[in-house]
Amino acid sequence: MKLFKVYPQLDLELTKAQGCYIYDRSGAQYLDLYGGHAVISVGHTHPHYVKRIKEQLDAIAYYSNAVINPVQHSLLDKLGKISGYDAYQLFLCNSGAEAIENALKIASFHTQKDKLVAFNKSFHGRTSRALSVTDNDKYRSRLDKYSNVQFLEMNLNAVESALKNQDVCAVLIEGIQGLAGIYMPEADFLPGLKQLCEKYGALLVVDEIQSGYGRSGKFFAHQHADVQPDLITVAKGMANGFPMGGVLISPKIEGWFGMSGSTFGGNHLACVAALATLEIIENEKLVENAQKVGAELIEALRAIPEVKEVRGAGLMIGVEFDFPVKDIRENLMKEQHVLTGMAANPNVIRLLPPLTLTQEQAALFVEKLKLSIQKISSDAAVLIGK
Ligand SMILES: Cc1ncc(COP(=O)(O)O)c(C=O)c1O
Repeated sequence: MKLFKVYPQLDLELTKAQGCYIYDRSGAQYLDLYGGHAVISVGHTHPHYVKRIKEQLDAIAYYSNAVINPVQHSLLDKLGKISGYDAYQLFLCNSGAEAIENALKIASFHTQKDKLVAFNKSFHGRTSRALSVTDNDKYRSRLDKYSNVQFLEMNLNAVESALKNQDVCAVLIEGIQGLAGIYMPEADFLPGLKQLCEKYGALLVVDEIQSGYGRSGKFFAHQHADVQPDLITVAKGMANGFPMGGVLISPKIEGWFGMSGSTFGGNHLACVAALATLEIIENEKLVENAQKVGAELIEALRAIPEVKEVRGAGLMIGVEFDFPVKDIRENLMKEQHVLTGMAANPNVIRLLPPLTLTQEQAALFVEKLKLSIQKISSDAAVLIGK
């Protein structure tokens, strides 16, 4: 059998990972500034994470939501406390796209409306409804283009015009736009959005699948602004690589039996992975670490003359150049042994390292990036005969 060809793959076969490092089959070490796409929040194979999962496997790995699951309750307590959303409710599922599907469905049930507002350059996942609010035609089949979605600039006047008919159930926005190339909404945009949603009877859904769980230097990226969304979607860093997603739901929204469901969602093993992740985030003060190391890293990157712009917060960083970054990223991987992420904007390197990244590792990355830039520039000079 062959793998269905939907992923362009790097020429890299991993056999081991630890902390912020990954190792290929020859034993060569790579610094991981990509985190498997913002998934590895507490570092690879963290001993506490491994221990908790092994112990849970020995006790009970899975049972459905038909029974009381004490690990789920521990997770609710811990997430409520760390996120500041103790009063909210939690629905558990298995991926980011599934979290988006559920958030939108819950918004529609609650408001009894069926129109959606999303933003230009957004990415919310690969299932059909998640694609309907994703601003990229390449990813959408004919089945995924719904006429009840409007894509807007991040402009409050445009949003108000779209909401005026009072037929929109949800306005959906990423805490920080990730795949687009790391774009943060302006400071007063989210509070303005919430006010408009309240005025016209829509719910504000913030997608924190990539930007949440401490990545931006706050637990949620929207907490950089003074706003409380009605629904918050989470996944990726939530369980450090164990497949899991969730929706945090305002207490004003009431659930009813059958409103949603998932066979695997919130099972014992997934919950313990999520719980161990939060325990490590709390014990090792990783939100604070992301804030501190991220701020230093952003400053050091801004000082590199070839860098056009650095955007983001905490350890969710976009480094933009005046030219496509493909060759720099390839050199970083092959010669400097550093993995980085790409973005829809071809001129942007996306950095999404584990939140355990140290100041030394961040400084090492900056040195390696400078070497790669030099190498690419000298190769280009040779090519054009300078
Ligand atoms: C902001 C955002 N929303 C949703 C998703 C979809 O998550 P998943 O791939 O777990 O379905 C992603 C994944 O990259 C994302 O970055």
